[in-house]
Amino acid sequence: MTDQSSNQMWGGRFAAGPDAIMEAINASIGYDQRMAAQDIAGSRAHAAMLAATGVITDNDADAIREGLLTVLSEIESGTFQFSTALEDIHMNVEARLKEIIGEPAGRLHTGRSRNDQVATDFKLWVRDQLDAAESGLLALINALLSQAEAGADWVMPGFTHLQTAQPVTWGHHMMAYVEMFGRDLSRVRDARARMNESPLGAAALAGTSFPIDRDMTASALGFDRPSANSLDAVSDRDFALEFLSTASICAMHLSRFAEELVIWSSAQFRFVTLSDRFSTGSSIMPQKKNPDAAELIRAKVGRIFGANTALMMVMKGLPLAYSKDMQEDKEQVFDAADNWMLALAAMEGMVKDMTANVDSLAAAAGSGFSTATDLADWMVRVLKVPFRDAHHVTGTLVAMAEQRGCDLPDLSLEDMQGVHAGITQDIFTVLGVENSVNSRMSYGGTAPAQVRAQIARWRENLA
Ligand code: ARG
Repeated sequence: MTDQSSNQMWGGRFAAGPDAIMEAINASIGYDQRMAAQDIAGSRAHAAMLAATGVITDNDADAIREGLLTVLSEIESGTFQFSTALEDIHMNVEARLKEIIGEPAGRLHTGRSRNDQVATDFKLWVRDQLDAAESGLLALINALLSQAEAGADWVMPGFTHLQTAQPVTWGHHMMAYVEMFGRDLSRVRDARARMNESPLGAAALAGTSFPIDRDMTASALGFDRPSANSLDAVSDRDFALEFLSTASICAMHLSRFAEELVIWSSAQFRFVTLSDRFSTGSSIMPQKKNPDAAELIRAKVGRIFGANTALMMVMKGLPLAYSKDMQEDKEQVFDAADNWMLALAAMEGMVKDMTANVDSLAAAAGSGFSTATDLADWMVRVLKVPFRDAHHVTGTLVAMAEQRGCDLPDLSLEDMQGVHAGITQDIFTVLGVENSVNSRMSYGGTAPAQVRAQIARWRENLA
């Protein structure tokens, strides 16, 4: 005889119920209830297919469908009583269905296992998140395009080693992130296309002897096709790992931009002013306006990449097919998804609201001998001096300016001719910051005309 407290879904061979600690370590209902809508969608597709193939009667399928809709509304309205003893969302839903419709509920699990069921539910959940990430990325890219358009010709310093390198344009800098988030967008779309195969009907691991129609359930759930190997279908968590690695790379991009915003909004840089809506104050220092949103976005990559690493380690070395280890996939993905979406939305909000301080950008663009390369290039182009020699002459002039505490355009023609006799007055036409950026017309370069061409290309791509 079965003990009263043994599991009502699988307790047939058990004489006693689980230890409390066993129940605690085994249960996933605390978090996998987030997949309730996906679980019910999967069950509805499965029941309709079982009726269409004659495995169950239409009457049973109708009862199951109605009952599942009732369960869904109970969950959505918050009246559903989740039970830890019932382990997970799959058994919680099925047990409640049984309470509502009785015997037909027991036919729903025909030709199916929790192994293909959980793989299906989780895929549907991750797929929704990829769609949300696509929307979030598109919104962020559009916000960056607007910033780039407004400031296609605002000059600012470009950095290497965080030392002033050459002047660039604000638009060019914004468009660098458009390229990064654009690649993230394409990774999201690739991942979605690759993962969109239905595990449903793989059953426990070997398929089923019932005459099921996997194409029917696949198409009902918006999958492109059923997965082609039942062992793989129940064991595959690549889709979750691709989600996490795509999220990690995007979070890394977000963190780089966030870091720049932290630096740029400091009193020392004053390149941008973040809006009050995306800043916070200090409880002790009244003058402070802190870029907390940027700092938190900068940090999010830690937990998202952590989730990626954690699930990699869970999956590493698992023999085929399903192992309970795989239940440890969900919390990582849920947490990473929540934080990725939040970071995308916060970054979009900050980018939309921020104001570039055009004067500070321009003043910084001209400092630090940022047009030294232009001087050297001029000697190569006009005087036909080899670049290495021109580099040396320019270095001498930079040292001279540094010693006098002035900028390159402040040196006199005589000063310059003292270092290289061939230099003429014409040199001063390339020393201005505007001249410098306008001259960088190579494809992908910082010249405003190039930046505008790239903005137009992106606008067309996205339309
Ligand atoms: N809660 C389980 C999970 O998330 C569902 C699958 C259970 N399958 C099994 N054979 N015990 O992985």
